[in-house]
Amino acid sequence: MDKLAWSSSDGRGLHVAIIMDGNGRWAAERGLPRTEGHRQGVESVRRTVKAALETGVSHLTLFSFSSENWSRPKQEIQFLFGLMRRFVQRDLADLLKQGVKILVIGSRDGLEADVLRLIDDAVLLTRENTTLNLTIAFNYGARDEIARAARRIAEEVARGSLAAADITPECFGTYLDTSDLPDPDLLIRTSGELRLSNFLLWQLAYSEFVFVDSYWPDFTQEAFEAAITEYQSRSRRFGGTSARSTA
Ligand code: IPE
Ligand code: IPE
Ligand code: MG
Repeated sequence: MDKLAWSSSDGRGLHVAIIMDGNGRWAAERGLPRTEGHRQGVESVRRTVKAALETGVSHLTLFSFSSENWSRPKQEIQFLFGLMRRFVQRDLADLLKQGVKILVIGSRDGLEADVLRLIDDAVLLTRENTTLNLTIAFNYGARDEIARAARRIAEEVARGSLAAADITPECFGTYLDTSDLPDPDLLIRTSGELRLSNFLLWQLAYSEFVFVDSYWPDFTQEAFEAAITEYQSRSRRFGGTSARSTA
């Protein structure tokens, strides 16, 4: 067995989801505009993708813009969209080479045509990759996702192509944006906030949560590996009893 397989930071096969929070506070503490925090946040995304590739994580899901983030000042929203455009334009070739498969979840409503085209091209170009599944939650809100799924299910029932009795949790999951993804094993949120902020409400039902105090621009490969080590010390029971306990 190689060294990595023995190391405590081996995250092989795991699905790690991250709420990347604290860009604004990182900037404010340095007397900088919030936009500078977002710019540094992109560096942290690059670092984290690299960390995921190195630890052997199979799925990395990043919350990058929520359906509630539209309530921010227009200037900040425009800056975030600009960063997103530049990230795809600059990093897509590298991601493709590294074997990263890109998926985007969230609503297409309200996104400009050029942003939709960038997203679609990135997904199409990387669709055969298998090393790391990188999912970007963009214009994403879990309640919106669940409502969109319910709407499609209702339409199918009305049309007669789906029986109401067949709507099980497994069936419902296939209507969500994440239908091709396993549920996250580990959720990390940076910046010390202890909430989900409408992220993957359905899919996180049995995930392990790790909250870290550092702001997203300060999130390091070591912190990523430490979160995986913490995850590995947890006992996941899924409602059952611990594998170690006896009757
Ligand atoms: C996370 O940082 C980035 C996005 C939500 C787009 P914030 O911008 O939320 O930073 P804080 O939480 O205000 O510090
Ligand atoms: C969650 O962070 C959304 C993203 C990280 C994209 P927010 O900063 O928007 O969450 P709240 O408003 O503090 O709950
Ligand atoms: Mg925030």
